[in-house]
Order: sequence, then structure tokens, then C-alpha cells
Amino acid sequence: MLRVAVIGSGPSGVYAAQALVQQETVPDVRVHVLDRLPCPYGLVRYGVAPDHEKIKSLQNNLRTVLEHDRITFVGNAEVGSAGLTTARLLELYHAVVYCVGAATDRRLGIPGEELPGSFSATSFVSWYSAHPDAAANGFALAARSAVVIGVGNVAVDVARILARGANELLPTDVPQPALDVLAGSRLRDVHMVGRRGPSQAKFTTKELRELGALPDASVVVRPDELALDPAYVDPAVSAALPAVNRRNVEVVRAWATSPAQQRSRVIHLRFFLRPVEVLEEDGRAAGVRFERTLPDGTGGVSGTGTYEDIEAQLVLRSVGYRGRPLPGLPFDPARGTVPNAAGRVLRDGAPSPGEYVAGWIKRGPTGVIGTNRPCAKETVASLLADAPELARRQLPDDPLAVLRESGLRLVEWKDWKSIEAAEAALGLSLGRGPVKLHEWADLLAAAHRAAGRGPDG
Ligand SMILES: Cc1cc2nc3c(=O)[nH]c(=O)nc-3n(C[C@H](O)[C@H](O)[C@H](O)COP(=O)(O)OP(=O)(O)OC[C@H]3O[C@@H](n4cnc5c(N)ncnc54)[C@H](O)[C@@H]3O)c2cc1C
Ligand SMILES: NC(=O)c1ccc[n+]([C@@H]2O[C@H](COP(=O)([O-])OP(=O)(O)OC[C@H]3O[C@@H](n4cnc5c(N)ncnc54)[C@H](OP(=O)(O)O)[C@@H]3O)[C@@H](O)[C@H]2O)c1
Repeated sequence: MLRVAVIGSGPSGVYAAQALVQQETVPDVRVHVLDRLPCPYGLVRYGVAPDHEKIKSLQNNLRTVLEHDRITFVGNAEVGSAGLTTARLLELYHAVVYCVGAATDRRLGIPGEELPGSFSATSFVSWYSAHPDAAANGFALAARSAVVIGVGNVAVDVARILARGANELLPTDVPQPALDVLAGSRLRDVHMVGRRGPSQAKFTTKELRELGALPDASVVVRPDELALDPAYVDPAVSAALPAVNRRNVEVVRAWATSPAQQRSRVIHLRFFLRPVEVLEEDGRAAGVRFERTLPDGTGGVSGTGTYEDIEAQLVLRSVGYRGRPLPGLPFDPARGTVPNAAGRVLRDGAPSPGEYVAGWIKRGPTGVIGTNRPCAKETVASLLADAPELARRQLPDDPLAVLRESGLRLVEWKDWKSIEAAEAALGLSLGRGPVKLHEWADLLAAAHRAAGRGPDG
């Protein structure tokens, strides 16, 4: 038997577990999928926007994998904590695949970034997704104007959630405290700002188009700003672009040339503006100063020395996620990833026997859910090639019993189902569908209710 621990139950962890039990090279592989949270699915539960119901429903596919008879989900198991070190895992499993994602955010490194009212999109997403590490009362939304810095798909998500009316989010699983805050929002203007042009924006066309389809928000684009982009003015340059960028330019062109509609909220899509400072008033963020940029002819931009201030009481930087070092694992601080070769963890340049990575902590924080499948498969192929050597080691009989004995209060699959039942019951009491629990204590209380245990397990 080959016993494998997969650390992280997001897409890469689940796809790695699936690839391990579906292959036939090594016959009897047993997989434990450990997650620090009591709930599975990683960013599919705690990142994918609540109004993207179809993508959210991918949780059902991940569930099917986690219910496989040779796969066991184990929540509330934080690797890198005192009771669960990377070294301990290697004593309990033949191989460990780290799929821990990229939990933190990139910084802008500009003055004022830390002011009250200035946040990362990561924390805003965690708040409306009910991540238990995010304070349920983390956002007040007294702002009339918001600036979202960055033009990737996360920026589109947060701009859209800000621009939606709360009643549009009622059918989703948004936690009630966040919904109440969104219902009281006085926001009128959302400025989403890119430092380069529309032909270089990172968002995808389907997500971009959604902004124009919001029931009570309009999108405003400045033709003079678009005219700075060679791909906007020169059809030959446009024709040479990858299809997604070309389509993005066409969507933005249509908005720039159509008359503005009267709606409650306005999304201002801005380009060629580089953030230089978050402005302060009375100790809080009051706006962002941008420098006008121009294309430098090599895909980048250069500053012009001309500045524009955009008023905003809420500033969200959405400039990418970033991997965090996990105690006991090597880490490349420049890339925010674990050094690896085809998924084999490298220590001082050499493969570390039995240790692997997949997903965002392997590649960096880019790619959609599906991108993690081939990524995990590559890692599993490396692991299976090493399996004859790895399987020689004798292991203790029951790794989970060992972990429990060391004091860990593990959440099992039936406990997770108990959380789901509690979320369905909460939704029912509010006249909504299932509504997410936000607090660690509530999640653990619901989890352990199944076994008649207290919140501490
Ligand atoms: C805001 C946002 C929205 C997105 N929306 C979409 C979308 O609509 N469609 C789409 O296709 N893609 C979307 N993506 C991209 C997609 O979510 C990622 O490609 C994918 O989740 C990455 O998978 P992962 O398994 O590497 O990381 P994650 O999904 O982050 O999973 C990592 C898991 O590891 C666990 N973990 C972390 N540290 C530890 C530890 N020390 N011990 C134990 N467990 C640990 C975490 O709790 C988590 O469950 C979105 C990304 C973001 C950030
Ligand atoms: N619906 C979906 O499918 C969905 C939803 C959400 C996320 N995702 C995926 O998740 C991944 C992460 O998305 P993301 O939006 O976090 O990252 P991203 O796609 O890398 O976008 C980051 C954005 O931040 C900008 N940026 C970076 N540094 C900056 C700085 N110092 N100043 C100003 N702007 C800066 C980038 O501009 P430059 O290009 O100029 O660097 C870019 O516009 C992506 O692969 C995305 O497609 C998918």
C-alpha cells in the first residue's frame, strides 16, 4: 500500500487525490486530504464569487472525489502548526503533496497603503465569502466612491460585488452580516483602474462582459484614454493580439462609444494610470493619486509626470495573490512558491524524497480551476515514478489516530456534512438558501455536533 497525504482540499489538492486513486501503475493508494479549515474546496468555497453559481457548483464535482472510498477528508488540520509539522507528516505517510495555494496578497509598496479604508481585495473576498479568518464585521461600506486597483479577474469580481444591489445576492450563500452591510451601502461610483491598456488587461472577456450586464449599474469608459492603446487605434496591432485580448478591446470599445445609461451605480473602467499614493484625510483613505502612463512600445508603460487624483473612501488593491512560506518547507520569496521540479520539492536544488507540490504554491497565483488538473497530474506522475522507493518505508498503522493522540481535533467528512446541515438550517431560518457560517467557533460547534462533542472536539 502507498499512503499519501495531500495538504489542501482546493482544486489542486482534490485533483491530485483523484489522479492518485484513478491511476493503475501503483495498485493500492490511500489518500488523506488534510485542510487547515473545517471546510473543504479551498478557493472554490472561499474565493469564487457567490454570484457565479455555475462555477460554485464545481464543489459538487470535488465532493464526489472526496467521497471516494480510498480518499479521506480531514479538516481542522493545519500543517506547520506545533502538532502537525512537515517532518511528522513524513513519519506518517510515504509521500506528502502540498497543495496549500497562495493565501495572501501582493502589496503595492506606495505611501498610504496601510490607511484605514485601504484593503487588499483578498481580505474583501474573504469577508464576503465568510472565510473564518476574516472578521465578519470587517467592512462597513460607508463609502460613496471606491477605487479598485488592478484589472484582473479578481478586480472584476470585487467591482461587480460592490456594484450589485444586495437583493441580487440574496439567493447566494453570502453570509448574512456581509449581506446586511452590502444592503446599506451608499456606494455610487466604482473606479477600476489599470496601469496598462485594455489590450494588456488580465481579465477574461466573459467576466468583463458581465459588468455591462448588471441590472442596476452602468459601465463608463473614456475614448481618449483608450486611444492611448495602439491595439485600440490600429487594426493591424489588434489583429496580432491573442483572441482574448482582442475581444476585450472590442467589449471596451463598445462601451466607450455607447451612450451612458442612468443607473444607481457607475463602474468607471480606467486605463494607463499607475497608483503612486493612497491619499489621506482625517486619518483615513480619501482617494488615490495616479500617474498617467503611456505605452513604452515593449508591452510595458512609462510615467509621464502628470497626475490625477480619484476620490475614494474605499480602496481595494487587486494586484495578485501571493504564496506564504510553510514552516518546514523551502520557499522562494521572489516567486512566492515552493521550489520544485515537475512537482518534486527541491531542497538546496535536490529533490526531497517524498515531498511534492501542486497548484498555486507550485506555479504561482495564476490560472483558473481547470488549470490545476494538469498541474496536479504532472506532480502525481513524478510521485508515482518515485513510488517503488517511497513504499519501502514502514509506517505506523493509523496516522489519524496518531494525530488525534497528539491533541488535534480533526474534522471528519460526517462533521463537514453537519456544517452543511447547519448552513442549510441557518438559510431556512432567514428565508434564504444555504447561508455560510462565518466564525471558527460556529463552524467547529456545527462540525462536532454530529458526534455529540463540544466545540473543542
Ligand atoms: C478571488 C478568486 C476568485 C476566483 N474565481 C475563479 C472562478 O470564478 N473560476 C475559476 O476557474 N477560477 C477562479 N479562481 C482561481 C481558482 O480559485 C484557483 O485556480 C484555484 O483555487 C487554485 O487552487 P489551489 O488548490 O492551488 O489553491 P486553493 O484553492 O487556495 O486551496 C488551498 C487549500 O489549502 C489549504 N491550506 C492552506 N494552508 C494550509 C496548511 N498549512 N495546512 C493545511 N491546509 C492548508 C487552504 O485552506 C485551502 O483549502 C479564483 C481565484 C480567486 C483568488
Ligand atoms: N472568473 C474567473 O475565471 C476568475 C475569477 C477570479 C480569478 N481568476 C483567476 O485567478 C488568477 C488571479 O487573478 P488576479 O486578478 O488576482 O491576478 P492577475 O490576473 O495577475 O491580475 C493582477 C492585476 O494587477 C495588476 N498589477 C500588478 N501589480 C500592480 C501594481 N504594482 N500596480 C498596479 N497594478 C498592478 C496587473 O497589471 P499588469 O498586467 O500591468 O501587471 C493586473 O491587472 C488569475 O489567473 C485569474 O484569471 C479567475
